Amino acid sequence: MCGIVGYIGKKQAAPILLDGLSKLEYRGYDSAGLAVRDGEKDPVVVKAKGRLKDLSDKTAEGTTVFGCCGIGHTRWATHGEPSENNAHPHVSDGMNVVGVHNGIIENYQELKAKMIRKGYSFYSDTDTEVAIKTVDYYYRKYGVGPIDALAKTMVRVRGSYALAVMFKDYPGEIFVARKDSPMIIGLGEDETYVASDVPAILKYTRKVYYIGNLEMARLSAGQVTFYNLDGDTVEKPLTEITWDAEAAEKGGYEHFMMKEIHEQPKAILDTINSVVRFADGTASDGRTVAGKASIDLSSVGLTDEEIRKFRQIHIVACGSAYHVGIAAQYVIEDLAGVPVRVELGSEFRYRTLLLDPDDLVVIISQSGETADSLAALRESKEKGVRTLAIVNVVGSSIAREADYVFYTMAGPEIAVATTKAYSAQLVSCYILGIQFGLVRGTLSQEKADRLIQELSTLPGKIARILEDKERLQWFASKLSPAHDIFFLGRGLDYAICMEGSLKMKEISYVHSEAYAGGELKHGTISLIEEGTPVIGVLTQKDLIEKTISNMVEVGSRGAYLMGLTTNGNFSIEDQADFTYYIPRTDEHFTPSLAVVPLQLLGYYVACARGLDVDKPRNLAKSVTVE
Ligand code: G6P
Repeated sequence: MCGIVGYIGKKQAAPILLDGLSKLEYRGYDSAGLAVRDGEKDPVVVKAKGRLKDLSDKTAEGTTVFGCCGIGHTRWATHGEPSENNAHPHVSDGMNVVGVHNGIIENYQELKAKMIRKGYSFYSDTDTEVAIKTVDYYYRKYGVGPIDALAKTMVRVRGSYALAVMFKDYPGEIFVARKDSPMIIGLGEDETYVASDVPAILKYTRKVYYIGNLEMARLSAGQVTFYNLDGDTVEKPLTEITWDAEAAEKGGYEHFMMKEIHEQPKAILDTINSVVRFADGTASDGRTVAGKASIDLSSVGLTDEEIRKFRQIHIVACGSAYHVGIAAQYVIEDLAGVPVRVELGSEFRYRTLLLDPDDLVVIISQSGETADSLAALRESKEKGVRTLAIVNVVGSSIAREADYVFYTMAGPEIAVATTKAYSAQLVSCYILGIQFGLVRGTLSQEKADRLIQELSTLPGKIARILEDKERLQWFASKLSPAHDIFFLGRGLDYAICMEGSLKMKEISYVHSEAYAGGELKHGTISLIEEGTPVIGVLTQKDLIEKTISNMVEVGSRGAYLMGLTTNGNFSIEDQADFTYYIPRTDEHFTPSLAVVPLQLLGYYVACARGLDVDKPRNLAKSVTVE
């Protein structure tokens, strides 16, 4: 969602802001803008609706806007349509306060009415303009400094925000405030950066501060001071980002999504190696594993004693991470015998929570910043329930606030449609299932050993699927004119269908639905017409015949059928127009293999339709507002 970049130093700010914003494009946006100050002069504000390229063209790649201090923003419309007028930065009269904002000010109408009573007028529909004018109001009314004015605003504002603001009276400085919206501060040689996400500044510095919730900071070239709401200064550790900057580039692939699909073997292997210890002391190379292996969750912070005590697990997540939860439910219940309930973050937070102090809430989130997942985590903690985060982004809010953290090792994921983070999350859940099973006595050591060995074969098996992707490209060309595509499966196959269907619709804009096979007769079958594509997922031995029956039912009504199954299940070919085989593995782990062809299908259908695969319309990578 919206992106923020700010710079103060000796270089010209505008090209740095544009470059940083381009690294945040993947988050989703519909307009962009920047404000740059040259010494004590008023800031120059330039905005453009549409792509960042339009802003870049308007400013001749930033070269027509002078000054070494500035803030930039990509906006994803929430309050008010995407337009130049609503784009950030927003300004108060006389450019007294100029700022950009990520998040949502929930009580903006109430604040706006108050500001109108105080004589302010408004030129946009945004909550951000209200926030900026509220800061201006407190700044002028009390004659206080910027930090006090921000603090006074923060206690009156409800909602979430990452705010970066320049004050007319403070040239060469940027003031920031944060609540529930990500923001980091980067330090270079006599220069300071602010950004809503690491990739924006990675090219310039690896040294960052994480600003805490309800905190503010005053930035000047090479200097940062942090404050709490009382205006007292706060000390922060400087952290080194260890990401490879290369990892955030396309590396020869046409799209980030394809690159990230190909990074899945590594993401899975790295995630396994972060918690699995091999007896001979060497890590798995993904193909040959020697010696016994054991799971060590000490980096997560979970002890065997704690694992034994949990009464129930609640998995809470959004989007694809929720689909991981659905698959994990089948796996963990089967391996560890613990009841698992899976809920959407947006639903969990608004119902009566019957949580027991002996329950464990597992939050799954790539970004670690999804507003609903974060709120669910906080609600659970307030109720005294222990929380485990499965998170990809180090230092993210969910990672910082959870009691236990299992980091997925997927590296930076740029394409909006998640692939490698999803796969790494799945594997983390398998590992939890095995370890919970072993510790709680539902799995024998022998079975656990076998499962761990099998886990380490997944990267190699995914690599084999990727070698055979052209067949899927061919089939995708048949699907691309479709209006609707249905995915059918039962049990774990249904969980895979949910993710396959989401991948298809979010990037190709073809309507699709995932159905539990048994539900077909309760509605969907009426939508089947001559030529409607239906993709059956059949990886679970005991359920294959059931799903084949469903395929026959839709086939006899004209459906165009694909069967996705494991090697050896040749009978599917009798029913399907196109059959795709994945390598054999333990049935608990088939989602990791079966999802790959479905990701590729979504990708190829989107490409065949000429769409912007990495940045699908209306979507954001990280949904930091409710
Ligand atoms: C957005 C992304 C999805 C992601 C979901 C949850 O919708 O586009 O790919 O699955 O948010 O995000 P999280 O960062 O919490 O995993």
